[in-house]
Amino acid sequence: MKFRTVLPVVIGILMFAVVMAMAAGDKGAENISLYGGKSGEVPFPHQRHQATLGDCNTCHELFPQEAGSIERLKAAKELKKKQVMNKHCIRCHRAMKREGTRSGPTSCKECHVKK
Ligand code: HEC
Ligand code: HEC
Ligand code: HEC
Repeated sequence: MKFRTVLPVVIGILMFAVVMAMAAGDKGAENISLYGGKSGEVPFPHQRHQATLGDCNTCHELFPQEAGSIERLKAAKELKKKQVMNKHCIRCHRAMKREGTRSGPTSCKECHVKK
């Protein structure tokens, strides 16, 4: 192979490595405000959950590590409205409360903030 053809390949591999490294290091926002429809926004302490739960896939097997991914999947009908709320957020908080461990809110007004 000529240098002219090898160089772009090398640059391509380097750029890919940088992007992967950045993705691996991206923990996302410390706190996220999630869309909550008529009931109002839902403030979500993201990094606190990461610290307490450890496993990213507890949540991210359902929606990708991208800002706005829940609403995008709901719009595409790949997630139902309130599916994340009921099947993930509330289900886990209830289960942990039952076990007597530190948990999160289970009532509407503790999660949804009206402006
Ligand atoms: C308890 C659930 C939960 C856990 C555990 C979790 N995340 Fe997230 N993550 C979310 C939610 C909710 C969003 C916002 C999705 C949206 O905007 O629709 C999000 C968004 C993100 C984003 C997108 C950027 C942003 O800040 O909005 C990144 C990156 C991310 N998470 C990385 C991680 C990593 C890395 C881990 C593991 C160390 C992790 N998350 C663990 C719930 C979680
Ligand atoms: C643990 C926090 C939590 C609790 C408790 C909670 N919600 Fe939610 N709610 C969310 C999150 C997160 C979303 C956005 C994700 C989704 O739609 O699944 C949401 C979404 C919603 C939506 C908007 C759905 C849409 O797409 O239009 C409504 C309406 C709603 N919740 C009503 C309620 C009501 C009523 C209660 C009490 C019975 C309640 N929520 C309790 C976190 C919570
Ligand atoms: C697999 C379990 C699990 C899931 C899924 C989960 N949480 Fe939690 N949540 C917890 C635990 C455990 C705590 C207590 C954390 C702590 O105090 O360190 C908590 C705490 C909270 C708190 C209270 C923070 C405070 O200031 O006291 C809020 C708000 C919250 N969660 C919202 C959410 C929302 C919204 C979702 C869904 C997007 C969600 N959680 C998904 C386990 C979970």
